[in-house]
Amino acid sequence: MSDLKNLLGYSEPIFNASMAGAAGGAMAAAVSAAGGVGMIGVAPTPTADWISAQAAHVAELDSPWGVGFMGWALEADLSPLESFLQYNPSLIVISFGDVTRAAALAHEAGVMTAMQIGNAADLDRAMHNDIDIIIARGGEGGGHGRNESGTLPLLQLACTQHQKPVVAAGGIGTAGGVAAVLAAGAEAAWIGTRFLATKEASGHENLKAAVRASGLDDTVYTRAFDIAQQLDWAPEYGGRALRNSFSNRYAEAIDSLQATEKLREQMIRARAEADISMAPVYAGEAAEFVRREESCAEVLAELSGFRRILQEAAARFA
Ligand SMILES: Cc1cc2nc3c(=O)[nH]c(=O)nc-3n(C[C@H](O)[C@H](O)[C@H](O)COP(=O)(O)O)c2cc1C
Repeated sequence: MSDLKNLLGYSEPIFNASMAGAAGGAMAAAVSAAGGVGMIGVAPTPTADWISAQAAHVAELDSPWGVGFMGWALEADLSPLESFLQYNPSLIVISFGDVTRAAALAHEAGVMTAMQIGNAADLDRAMHNDIDIIIARGGEGGGHGRNESGTLPLLQLACTQHQKPVVAAGGIGTAGGVAAVLAAGAEAAWIGTRFLATKEASGHENLKAAVRASGLDDTVYTRAFDIAQQLDWAPEYGGRALRNSFSNRYAEAIDSLQATEKLREQMIRARAEADISMAPVYAGEAAEFVRREESCAEVLAELSGFRRILQEAAARFA
């Protein structure tokens, strides 16, 4: 097994997932300062001002931090990656799309790379030399990704390659969840939804409150929001979000969803007004474990209970 902990220099094997719109510099700095790996999630076309404002939170940290991009957005424009590389991140994560040029650029700058995988073909791609760390992400997870495998089978598959460190993602929301993926061979957990309603998360309070009020059965995997907004997500990457009136309308009839200009404008307005009956609230099944407003440090402190759980399990089966 590799030693990702020493390679990246974290003390808690917990990364906050890069989440565009939710994980900015404030979250990354808080997670990194609490011993994990803080990640900034970058939207498809960030402004230069946004990049410098997020980087200001993390650029002077002694602890590790990184930046996550959508591969398909970097295919069109590498400049957001070039900008962030100037701040010396510890890690660049590229997911969903062709990662080749972006990974090469990160390596040229001497920065480690990771990729979220969602199926066996993704794992084959991630075995190329340009990817250093594999993030096995199951369909339980929030936000965009594949919905082809659950976290545990994908993680077990990824661990069979015995060459690159594996990080587990999707549905991890408790210390027990962290313990489970570490026991199965992951070197760390990549966690999004559990951090969504933290004090340091960006995003409207309506969205945070909706996540806190939701449970295991309240999410849906859908392309409805992307079709309505005419976004450039490839069809294999739907997103897991809280069910709402809009997603319910197309749950059984996605083909009847017409991408009109009027609908696009309605969806943009709903997002601007944080109208959660129509706008997407991306979140995974681990919404079940988000119940109150916490700081990222409090979430990390709770999740670090994985050590006791692993010890108790070892003692029970000794
Ligand atoms: C609100 C939200 C936004 C997300 N945005 C991104 C993103 O910008 N880039 C990315 O690679 N993954 C994104 N994801 C997916 C996460 O990286 C990760 O796969 C997922 O959160 C893990 O599952 P979990 O939510 O159950 O912890 C997002 C997830 C959520 C919930």
